[in-house]
Amino acid sequence: MSVETPSHAPKSEVVALSPKAEPENPVRKACFGDQPAIFTDIYQDNINIAVWQNAISSSISEEAKQLLKNAANLKVVMTTDADNVVENLLEQSAELNAAPELCQHIALLVDMFCTLFELKRVGLRLTHLTHAMCPKFHVDKVPCRLVTTFTGNATEWLPNNVVDRTKLGFGGKGLPDNSSGVIRDLNHINQLAAGDVALLKGESWYNNEGGGIVHRSPSLSDNEQRLLLTLDFSD
Ligand SMILES: [Fe+2]
Repeated sequence: MSVETPSHAPKSEVVALSPKAEPENPVRKACFGDQPAIFTDIYQDNINIAVWQNAISSSISEEAKQLLKNAANLKVVMTTDADNVVENLLEQSAELNAAPELCQHIALLVDMFCTLFELKRVGLRLTHLTHAMCPKFHVDKVPCRLVTTFTGNATEWLPNNVVDRTKLGFGGKGLPDNSSGVIRDLNHINQLAAGDVALLKGESWYNNEGGGIVHRSPSLSDNEQRLLLTLDFSD
């Protein structure tokens, strides 16, 4: 299995990211599936990213594209329980009335996230982005974050065995990723696809210090845009 092309990995297969991990980094793996059941694998100690691939229909994708055209300033930031997601979304942004299937899909994701982690409420951000929000490789200081790009360039991430974690944050001395030394070979950068839903395990997950998935926002050229959803613990 090639680690460079995880989006094309066989369905429901756990992919070993390296046959020989560097000793300074704990071994972590990615897993991919074509059903949301793949999310339960995030509970395995050695998994730090679980991806439900191709999770949206073409009509949801089309609604997302239309939103980018018609809702240039779309930014929803709220906490919600799993029961009233669509109502809460529409209360935040009337423009979402034009995207009923997308709203239902978001409600499904909130319900899954709450069930998987036994949460009553989640922090939800739905944002129209025209620039890279977090352009440098980093780890999140959260237990676990759901990330999905409905349309546009999606999140980039690194297998744990190719990262020099001492070069993250201040260790990178302000240098760009391609010269900071955070990654030895740029060919090892992996990228999610639009429509993929990923659970990114963070540094605050129990016993996962030093094992949080290293990731960044994709760079966007002048006319590129993306519609991004993130869900976080909120209890
Ligand atoms: Fe992040």
